[in-house]
Amino acid sequence: MKTLFSFILIFGSACHFVLAQSASEKQAVIRPGELWPDSEGVHINAHGGGILFYEGVYYWFGEHKTAGRMGNRAMVGVGCYSSTDLVNWKNEGVVLTVDAEGSGSDIEKGSVIERPKVIFNEKTGKFVMWFHLELKSQGYDAARTALAVSDSPTGPYVFEKSLRPNPKTWPLNFDSSWKEKTITEHALESWSDEWKKEVAEGLFIRRDFESGQMARDMTLYVDEDGKAYHIFSSEENLTLHIAELTDDYLDFTGKWAVIEPAGHNEAPAVFKQDGKYYLITSGCTGWDPNAARSFAADDLFGPWTALGNPALGEGAELTFDSQSTFIVPVQGKKDAFIFMADRWRPQNAIDGRYVWLPIKMKDGRPILEWMEEWDLSYFD
Ligand code: GAL
Repeated sequence: MKTLFSFILIFGSACHFVLAQSASEKQAVIRPGELWPDSEGVHINAHGGGILFYEGVYYWFGEHKTAGRMGNRAMVGVGCYSSTDLVNWKNEGVVLTVDAEGSGSDIEKGSVIERPKVIFNEKTGKFVMWFHLELKSQGYDAARTALAVSDSPTGPYVFEKSLRPNPKTWPLNFDSSWKEKTITEHALESWSDEWKKEVAEGLFIRRDFESGQMARDMTLYVDEDGKAYHIFSSEENLTLHIAELTDDYLDFTGKWAVIEPAGHNEAPAVFKQDGKYYLITSGCTGWDPNAARSFAADDLFGPWTALGNPALGEGAELTFDSQSTFIVPVQGKKDAFIFMADRWRPQNAIDGRYVWLPIKMKDGRPILEWMEEWDLSYFD
């Protein structure tokens, strides 16, 4: 017993030493898939994240996970970290806090809050956060998007509402004859060619026409003209929707389009280079990784051209064991974009890792190659 006690003491102080050391040491490189200590030496807790650049500082927002399988639920809220070099991150704390269990709030403790993204509205001076929300005890059935707003990048963000976007409006790229179709959800065998054709011709859009469209995995994108777009997995995750936000970013304008109907895409992430838009997504296999996909378009509302799996080399078929969440434009460097992805650890959610890799362009396609470690000089 005594030996065990001394062992714990020695081991404990050794751990403390290691933590204290790493807390004081600046990090020089990004190590995809490894533990990523913040300025206190604690692994960053901001999963399914996105990055906002505001007044010289990068802010990384993400799901604050807790230990164990339950840790995939929103037990705490949305976390935020700040950095000036994209490598060394300071914990800014929980910026959107869940409401008390039993409160009946949409964001009560135990709900699911995923993939939060924050954009800054120049006109209103507000920081606008949208995220994927699943209501408590309803699995993934609610499929809602939700809004929280703050006066400062580091919060507190105040929850405003959750909704299903674009009720009673048709997408732009939708044949008017499809509006009148009467075929219903269970009339055909799922995944048959006829069924996929019907999905592409609005089977689920018509089903959800009155209530609004489902919204799960999501990202936000602000174009050079200040217009913002919300891109999300809809129609039972079968089709991505891209929807324009109002000028204050607090609502949808009702202008929207489908991307890859029946293409089964999740985890959308967008960037723009030389006037062209690029989209990287994943397939739909839950927490398990799969092969990423990429697309390009001259207009955000499409048409989008499929460019295949951007990942190359060993591990490409599982996107190096990760799933996209965001693409970071590196400030002050031309054509410098970072693919930001999650390596989920669903059994112990807090242990999830981050895979960040530079995006290369080759023959008009975005390319991802594995690197054990790298730094921003890669882009010079
Ligand atoms: C993934 C999705 C994650 C999370 C997970 C739950 O497909 O990208 O954000 O929702 O499913 O199983």
